Amino acid sequence: MRLTPQQLEQFDRDGYLFFPGQFSPQETRVLTDAVPALYARREVYNVREKGKDAVRTNFAAHLYSKPFATLARHPRMVQPVMDLFGEPVYMHQFKINGKAAFDGDVWQWHQDYGTWRNDDLMPTERAMNVAIFLDDVNAYNGPLMFIPGSHKRGVIDAQHDTTTTSYPLWTIDGALITQLVERAGGKNGGIVSPTGPAGSMILFHSCLVHASGSNLSPWHRVSVYLSLCAVSNHIRRFKRPEYIAHRDFAPIELLPDDCLLKDYPVALPWKDGMPASALETSSVPIDRSMQAA
Ligand code: SIN
Ligand code: MN
Repeated sequence: MRLTPQQLEQFDRDGYLFFPGQFSPQETRVLTDAVPALYARREVYNVREKGKDAVRTNFAAHLYSKPFATLARHPRMVQPVMDLFGEPVYMHQFKINGKAAFDGDVWQWHQDYGTWRNDDLMPTERAMNVAIFLDDVNAYNGPLMFIPGSHKRGVIDAQHDTTTTSYPLWTIDGALITQLVERAGGKNGGIVSPTGPAGSMILFHSCLVHASGSNLSPWHRVSVYLSLCAVSNHIRRFKRPEYIAHRDFAPIELLPDDCLLKDYPVALPWKDGMPASALETSSVPIDRSMQAA
């Protein structure tokens, strides 16, 4: 899938593109059917909501689940990002966010690149998210909220919030969010929430300010996020475990467009368990650690 000049212009202006119904119900079902068994695993890569059993986010399924390994190489998700960056991309992070009915907690206002820079020493913002809805998303089940155009502000000051939810995040304070929303149009478009059927896709800039509320509805809101990084922009520090911030900078090789419906071989390196090295972390930048070795 190639982006049109009009889409490129829209992405530059708003910082995101929404593709309702990008994947068919049949394709989406292949992914949705695999989620319960993944969430049932008692593994460190399943981060549960604070004080609850519901999975908030599952990491790195593309390394141990065939349907998600396939999605990680899907041209409809990956090609547009390669085109935007004009170079190959690798998988920096892979998440299946649960946002479970009744239990799904908030994601505070943040920019993803803030975390990637502060924690992982990713040199520039040449990385972005592509998300696919595995459930219908509506106004009630905690849809993503974007501040259109906020990516133009570059990296915004953030504080490391380690207490609000079960997952630490570099978050932006309310005063700054108020300003950004006002500048984006206030009540007239200063916040937008793409909603639509399962199978819809969103591509958004790593500096786009976003959040989502809790899910008090009876409907799950499972979504998958591929965080794709230009290969030349790979992270320079392994401060977070490998199942959260990947260390394999090899370019993603695309599968054919029908890959979710036909059988293509994919590597599943963590199929029989995560290597112990995936839990090892270091606060020393990798270039320097290589020099020291
Ligand atoms: C995120 O910002 O990484 C996740 C937000 C969400 O799933 O609502
Ligand atoms: Mn985010």
